Amino acid sequence: MQITYYGHASFQIEGSKSLIFDPFISANEMAKDIDVATLKADYILVSHGPQDHVVDVETIAQNSEATIISSFEIVTWYGGKGLKGFPMNHGGKKTFDFGTVKCVNAVHSSVLPDGTYGGNPLGFVISNEEKCFYFAGDTALTLDMKLIPMTCPKLDFAILPIGDNFTMGYEDAVIASDFIECDKIIGCHYDTFGYIQIDHDAAKKAFADKGKELILMDIGQTIEL
Ligand code: NI
Repeated sequence: MQITYYGHASFQIEGSKSLIFDPFISANEMAKDIDVATLKADYILVSHGPQDHVVDVETIAQNSEATIISSFEIVTWYGGKGLKGFPMNHGGKKTFDFGTVKCVNAVHSSVLPDGTYGGNPLGFVISNEEKCFYFAGDTALTLDMKLIPMTCPKLDFAILPIGDNFTMGYEDAVIASDFIECDKIIGCHYDTFGYIQIDHDAAKKAFADKGKELILMDIGQTIEL
């Protein structure tokens, strides 16, 4: 499985199909070297509504005829713009041609850029015969994360927000990694704005002290997991 980081909470994960998560690229100065017009995906997974997670959904969906997987409210909103989608909500799972998506709780808010209610903010657990991973979306640390190992296959890795202020910080993300029983964490939702700048070495050390790995990817970097 190839994972490419486009900054903030934007990732492309490619196996048999290409998935893009929460594309916020063209409005992110730190991701100015990424050309959104060249990005193609089979699916775009949108965890929740604000600009810093959806700004490039339309461009990528139009350029690649991608299917948007998100809350009922967000999929309906994009449907009004002529884009195709598949609606889900907390607790539900669905098997697609790339694997199974389970929607799990995220403790946050979700409003679309024009003020439309975005439904519940979502996290996604995605599994197939190759791998299982958790994309947490924007969330606080929550006890509900303990349900993931009880209800999903064993996680190979997880993408967790670590920037604090709007989501959990890295200290809470270490606890989250215990709750989800996963020792390989990719950090996201940090450094993009002044509110969420973090000390990379301190964050990595907090995980390393517990025998865990925190991966902080460079924007544009691709890794294989
Ligand atoms: Ni956010």
